Amino acid sequence: MSNTPARIAVAYHSGYGHTARQAEAVAAGASSVSGAVADLVPLDELTDEVWDRLAAADAIIFGAPTYMGSPSAVFKAFAEASVKVWAADLGWRDKIAAGFTNSKAMSGDKLNSLVDLAVFATQHGMIWVGLDLYPGWAESTASIEDLNRLGSWLGAMAQSDADLSAEKAPPATDLRTAAALGARVATVTLRHLRGALAA
Ligand SMILES: Cc1cc2nc3c(=O)[nH]c(=O)nc-3n(C[C@H](O)[C@H](O)[C@H](O)COP(=O)(O)O)c2cc1C
Repeated sequence: MSNTPARIAVAYHSGYGHTARQAEAVAAGASSVSGAVADLVPLDELTDEVWDRLAAADAIIFGAPTYMGSPSAVFKAFAEASVKVWAADLGWRDKIAAGFTNSKAMSGDKLNSLVDLAVFATQHGMIWVGLDLYPGWAESTASIEDLNRLGSWLGAMAQSDADLSAEKAPPATDLRTAAALGARVATVTLRHLRGALAA
């Protein structure tokens, strides 16, 4: 185990590239942890290779833009297609899971998307990990640059101004929060794998 890296898949959809930026930041955070490697897995086409990469992962971090108050339809199609993994004796049982979402409004009902992702992961018998960051930007002296400026515990949130391209949004502050989620999941996954060895 000591030479086997913890494999963190970041399974995401992005219609216009903004959530893809968030996914890249999550993956960068995960791979910044010694002993962890990240695999960015777009969900636009559900090929056998996609399912194989997810099966090989020790953790899967799910991400989608919030569309009409919930994860995008492309992500939901993936979630429904994953029933074949579920039916095969909970094929993702005991993998670590986490989630992130991005939308144009500060709230935009993003929490509903994270709840959806968490329910999805736990239906698969996965172990959900949230953020361990106190809400930022929530005191008179606080800054928009604070980690977790949107104040979510369940997963990482990002906000992208509707008139900005994916080169400019979401802002760096939300990408840092995304990276923090990736790093936390990598750390927890390494502990989980070591614990499984000891058990
Ligand atoms: C069909 C559709 C529905 C949307 N619904 C919401 C919403 O419920 N709340 C919100 O804040 N933004 C909403 N948006 C805005 C997107 O979440 C936002 O533009 C996001 O940055 C898109 O991410 P993407 O580039 O990864 O697709 C919606 C956009 C689309 C296209």
